[in-house]
This record gives sequence, structure tokens and C-alpha cells, in this order.
Amino acid sequence: KWRMDSFVQKTVEELHQKIGTGRALCALSGGVDSSVAAVLLSKAIGSQLTCVFVDHGLLRKNEGDEVEAVFGKSGTYDVNFVRINARDRFYAKLKGITEPEQKRKIIGEEFIRVFEEAAREIGAVDFLVQGTIYPDVIESGLGKSAVIKSHHNVGGLPDHVDFKEIVEPLRLLFKDEVRAAGRELGIPDYLVDRQPFPGPGLGIRIIGEVTAEKVHIVQEADAIYREEIAKAGIQKNLGQYFAALTNMRSVGVMGDGRTYDYAVVLRAVETSDFMTAEAAQLPWDVLSRVTTRIVNEVRGVNRVLYDCTAKPPSTIELE
Ligand code: XMP
Repeated sequence: KWRMDSFVQKTVEELHQKIGTGRALCALSGGVDSSVAAVLLSKAIGSQLTCVFVDHGLLRKNEGDEVEAVFGKSGTYDVNFVRINARDRFYAKLKGITEPEQKRKIIGEEFIRVFEEAAREIGAVDFLVQGTIYPDVIESGLGKSAVIKSHHNVGGLPDHVDFKEIVEPLRLLFKDEVRAAGRELGIPDYLVDRQPFPGPGLGIRIIGEVTAEKVHIVQEADAIYREEIAKAGIQKNLGQYFAALTNMRSVGVMGDGRTYDYAVVLRAVETSDFMTAEAAQLPWDVLSRVTTRIVNEVRGVNRVLYDCTAKPPSTIELE
């Protein structure tokens, strides 16, 4: 097994050789892979790299600002950083759409359009950087016969961007090696240890139509859930944990009044490969604290459910 410091050093040198005085463009999602790829490139070619961060308005609470804090002007890296707040565009496209695959398709396509527009403004580049990792390489080679969910990876290939070559500095690494490289590169822990987050983001954690109001509800509920899990220190064995929003409203009572509000669902799974997963047995006191906080702090929610289902037959995400 190779050492990460030598991987980082060797890769930075190779990228420097390869790219020379050329220009590179990277779609930054804020996830681990694209962040590590971007930092490797910044070490190799500095501001010859431009990172485009498309904020589709379907990120977790504060996530956009966290990415900007690391890669933006006052951040730690020597890169050109462009943040595009495309929230309204995505919400407009998603208006009235309830079918999961259609939602994924719209988000994926709109992402590429927004990225292409930004790339056109930046002008021709020599290299397009992709945060592809080894499992992605294998998976796309398998040619799965039945598509259960069409995966959209932020950074999927745009058709109308002018570049000569693709660089994929992580294509031989597994996830834990990518994280190790990220640590070696001094990327903050909260980025390196970030749990997997799907390209279509909260769009597929809201069952049915996506609206600004529902995104806000999920963001707040999810932030509370993550905060309480961190406080309890139980995140270690959890492959993924998040709040999602059902499209079910039910009757509740608050003070003297009747409410008719949404139900939030909490999910937490243990998994080694994300192909199968078990529902995690979270401590009741944690679930209970999260529930109390969500119904008290998040408007529009009067019920909190815990998802006890394994994958299969469920999937990890709700859509
Ligand atoms: P499922 O829901 O299929 O998810 O059990 C398995 C893993 O894949 C992630 N996931 C996605 N990741 N784009 C991504 O980049 C997607 O469209 C997507 N859909 C699911 C999910 O978060 C879990 O880690």
C-alpha cells in the first residue's frame, strides 16, 4: 500500500509537468472527491485553475458558504473560484415535477447547462478536471442492465465546454485513500470527513414536488439531526444519516389549536459499500431529542418518523 504523502507529492509533480502553463477548469461540488482534486490541482498550477461551484439551492444548510470559505477569496488556496447561485433556476425547472427520475434528470441537465454557461464566460481551457475515483471507474464499466436510479454526479461531462483533455488525478484511489490524501493536503476535517451526498442533493430527499419552503424545512431538520448526532458522538459507525421530507401531512395539536403539517423522516444506515445497508439502531434518547427539537424549531413539521428499513428492499435515499 502506497503512502499518501508520496502520492500527493508525485501527483502534484505530474500535474505540474502535464499542464505546464495551461489552464484548467474544475466543477467543485463541495464533496470530498472534487475538493481533493481541486486542491491537488491548485498545488500544481495555482491560479491557472478555475473552480466553478454551482449552488443549485439543494445543498445542506450552510454548505454553500462552507465551500466558499475554503476555496473563495478569503480561503486558503490559490485558485480562481466562481460561485454561481442558481437556486431560482433549479426551483423554477422543478416546479410541479414529482416523479423521481424526472427530478434527477432535470437537476443533472440544469447543472450541466449552468456549468457550461460559466465555462463559456471563462473561455477556452486546456484541461477539464474530474474528481472520478476508482469505484466510479469500475461501476461505469459494469454496464448495469437495470437502472434502479440514474446517478448524477456533480461534474458529469458537459458537451459544450471547450477543452483538450480530461484530468482525473484520483482515478486509482478508493474513498478512504481520497480522504487520506485530503488530510495530507490540509483540507479541513469537516470537508474531508463529509458523508456522501448525492449530486441531486436535497432534491431527492424531498418526496414529490420540490419547493423553496420544503427545502428550508429539510435543511433545518437535517442540521438539527447532524448537530445532535455530533454532540452524542455516535457518527463513527454511520455510513450516512440525514433528514428527509415526506409528502405526507397529518393532524397534530399545538396549544389549543389543530395543526396539519408535514412529517420529517430520519434515516441512518450502517453500510460498508452502499450497495446494501442496515438501519442503524440509534439510541432512543438521541432520537427523542432530535424529534423534540425539530417539532419545536422547524415550522411546518408536526411529526417525526424514523426509517427502520434495510437496503434492500429500500434504498438509502428516499427517491
Ligand atoms: P441509494 O439511494 O441508491 O444510494 O441506496 C446509494 C448511495 O449513492 C448515493 N446516491 C447518489 N450519489 N448521485 C450521487 O452522486 C446520485 O444521483 C445519487 N443517488 C444516490 C447515495 O447518497 C448513497 O450514498
